[in-house]
Amino acid sequence: MKLDGKVAIVTGTSPNIGGGIAEGLAAEGAAVVCVDSRAENAADCAKSIASKGGRALAMTCDVTDDGQVAEAVEKTRKTLGRIDVLVNSAAFFNRKGVLDMPLNEWNQQLAVILGGAFLFTKHVARAMIDGGRKGSMINIISTAGHQGEPNNIAYCTGKSGLLNFTRSAAMELIGYGIRVNSITPTATDPAESLERGARWGRRAPDAARLQEAFKPFRSRVAMQKLPAPSDYARAAVFLASDDAAMITGIDLRVDAGAIAQYWAWDPGK
Ligand SMILES: NC(=O)c1ccc[n+]([C@@H]2O[C@H](COP(=O)([O-])OP(=O)(O)OC[C@H]3O[C@@H](n4cnc5c(N)ncnc54)[C@H](O)[C@@H]3O)[C@@H](O)[C@H]2O)c1
Repeated sequence: MKLDGKVAIVTGTSPNIGGGIAEGLAAEGAAVVCVDSRAENAADCAKSIASKGGRALAMTCDVTDDGQVAEAVEKTRKTLGRIDVLVNSAAFFNRKGVLDMPLNEWNQQLAVILGGAFLFTKHVARAMIDGGRKGSMINIISTAGHQGEPNNIAYCTGKSGLLNFTRSAAMELIGYGIRVNSITPTATDPAESLERGARWGRRAPDAARLQEAFKPFRSRVAMQKLPAPSDYARAAVFLASDDAAMITGIDLRVDAGAIAQYWAWDPGK
């Protein structure tokens, strides 16, 4: 297994992407700390990993709170002895544009996307340096961080900021042997998160309606199919593992070709 003996912290462990990445890291042998401000998302993710024989801890923590982040990192170190991997995935969606978004909502969204990644990176980097760990950090971006999407101003800005935060932190931490990279997901096929939600005992949403809502994304993207959380998890395992020992400061796009695609080309025609 590629991550045997390693300890990973994953933030934002809903049944969708963060939970998928957490389960993927655990399947490769990592002990995983599932961090979420919603207690059930931390607890259900940890429970699911433990049910498959993995080692996991649940931590309810608001990534925007310096004290709570420091405590989560310290508790991880005390309980599991080390920290090798950090995945910053916590975020929330609030589709508003520059004309209508109130300042407090702009601040709150950036506080989670950028502030949360900053706080976890800072506290985990200190712990890695103290423990002499040559760790790996992974920030979750979005294709919306590479392109101008109308009426999604704080999300697009935050994700774009996180791209260069990644490069900047990578350069700052390179001397300690800590690698910092990012993964860019895009519109994600809902089937796997529905299956994970069901496994975690969540109430099932209308799957057919959800799949219907994703039709335009599927038909307009170069590959004509959408990635699943497990596709992101495999990329995270790679970046977290020693296979990526010489890789830092990159963005690994797992986006079915979305960013490479020429804007006027319609792959469905
Ligand atoms: N869903 C997509 O199609 C998509 C596409 C591209 C990128 N992404 C990115 O992937 C990541 C995961 O997305 P998702 O679809 O699984 O989202 P999600 O909403 O299902 O999960 C996000 C999790 O973050 C948690 N969270 C929010 N604020 C928090 C806070 N202050 N402290 C701690 N936890 C907090 C939420 O409780 C939730 O469990 C995000 O960074 C998102 O921007 C998602």
